[in-house]
Amino acid sequence: MSIDPELTAKTRNRYNRIAGLYDISEAPIERLLYAPWRKRLWAGVKGPEVLEIGVGTGKNMRYYPDGVNVTAIDLSEGMLSRARRLAKTLGLDVDLRQMDAQKLDFPADSFDTVVATFVFCSVPDPVIGLKELGRVCKPDGEIRLIEHMRARSEALGVLMDAANPLVVRTMGPNINRRTVENVTKAGLEIERVEDLSVQGIFKLIIAKPADH
Ligand SMILES: C[S@@+](CC[C@H](N)C(=O)[O-])C[C@H]1O[C@@H](n2cnc3c(N)ncnc32)[C@H](O)[C@@H]1O
Repeated sequence: MSIDPELTAKTRNRYNRIAGLYDISEAPIERLLYAPWRKRLWAGVKGPEVLEIGVGTGKNMRYYPDGVNVTAIDLSEGMLSRARRLAKTLGLDVDLRQMDAQKLDFPADSFDTVVATFVFCSVPDPVIGLKELGRVCKPDGEIRLIEHMRARSEALGVLMDAANPLVVRTMGPNINRRTVENVTKAGLEIERVEDLSVQGIFKLIIAKPADH
């Protein structure tokens, strides 16, 4: 298993391109669905050291708990510059860095909680990325994800497979990833998986890092 530099550059360029439109295009679904899910996810976050993967434009920042030190990374400088602006507006001291989730520049066992929301649909090799989350998370820490993935029903799944190439080209994310399976493939130990929507398309996944 190795990182594909071309696909990684393509992903970065795609998010740089859509960064300016990201918040507006997501506004309706953000209000309707994502905001309450984010609130729930972050309510269970324990510090003191927290890592957010794929921070994007900083949509989780409003839910960061008090009293934790958040380091947040993203592949796209375009998304990060918006996150920097929002952190300033909210008066938050967040250590924002450009970095690839597939190759995290942190020593093992650095963080008490590692969080990602709607990220592993885009990371070029999700299993490599998820392994990295397990590496940098402390052995008694927790990995908390909200992700969308391939539908439970095979009929809908096949439609998602067919639509995926167009969605990736135009919007960035893959809509047919098998993220729960990828978490297991990465050697993480799943503690809890909760369906957040019909067909199990959106899920909350709580996992423990692999032994390391
Ligand atoms: C759909 S957006 C989600 C942003 C944010 N987490 C949210 O909840 O709104 C996916 C984000 O993942 C980032 N991303 C994709 N691949 C990545 C990688 N390999 N390393 C770090 N970030 C990555 C993208 O740049 C983008 O900001």
